[in-house]
Amino acid sequence: MDNQGCVFLVGAGPGDPELLTLKALELIKTADTVVYDRLVSAEILELIPDNVDRIDVGKRPGSHPVPQKSINRILVKLARSGQKVVRLKGGDPMIFGRGGEEVEILLQHSVEVRTVPGITSAQGCASSLNLPLTQRGIANSLMYLTGHTRDDIAPDINWAPVVAGTTTAVIYMGVATISEITSEMIAAGLDEDTPALAVCNATRPAEQHLLSSVARIADEIKLAEFEGPVLFVIGKAAGLAAYNGELQDGRLDEPAAAASL
Ligand SMILES: C[S@@+](CC[C@H](N)C(=O)[O-])C[C@H]1O[C@@H](n2cnc3c(N)ncnc32)[C@H](O)[C@@H]1O
Repeated sequence: MDNQGCVFLVGAGPGDPELLTLKALELIKTADTVVYDRLVSAEILELIPDNVDRIDVGKRPGSHPVPQKSINRILVKLARSGQKVVRLKGGDPMIFGRGGEEVEILLQHSVEVRTVPGITSAQGCASSLNLPLTQRGIANSLMYLTGHTRDDIAPDINWAPVVAGTTTAVIYMGVATISEITSEMIAAGLDEDTPALAVCNATRPAEQHLLSSVARIADEIKLAEFEGPVLFVIGKAAGLAAYNGELQDGRLDEPAAAASL
């Protein structure tokens, strides 16, 4: 089709604008329109030039101001009118970001689509806390899972690798179901004292942390009254989060003993 535009599915990362890729920044600056989600930070939105159109299609849990079908229609329409469209999503578009669904629809409508990765929030949390999600002798594998399903119930997960003690579980969208998830982990045999970490607003100025145990985190997260996106990290590796001993805020106030060199 002549005059066909293109949709770039771009990851904005967890919030800190310096964690954008150079490719993402270049695309944001040269797009005709940026169609963005709720979790794209204000600092990143400020990088969009005034002459670039922007469309906010942000969704909140339980409230979808612009339904996915409408977002799909917007993307197809803009690309068909010849525009260079940046579909900007928090984190990485292909990790719990519905990127795959949008690619499918665009290809069905013969719209060219290209993906530009972003730093997923798990990596953002890990970097903020110098936290190794894998570490020799402690964690040899990593599990990313969603706490939220289409039916608003905790997902059906095989917890055996986490219970074995060598897998770090990273839970996205887990605030509403963390109680159910941690109960399931304990029922499956996970030690109740296994470290559990919650990070809110990772890589943003309002970042907050809560280091707890798998048995206590569901209650403590309620008391913490975090405002903003929260990620949970559960497993022995989560206990390494305090390891640089520099964190003053949140409850990560017990730095690990200094390692002898
Ligand atoms: C719809 S998912 C999007 C994930 C995103 N595509 C990614 O790769 O990070 C939204 C969830 O990501 C997590 N999240 C996103 N940004 C975050 C941040 N800055 N700090 C903590 N968690 C974040 C939270 O668990 C939130 O509920």
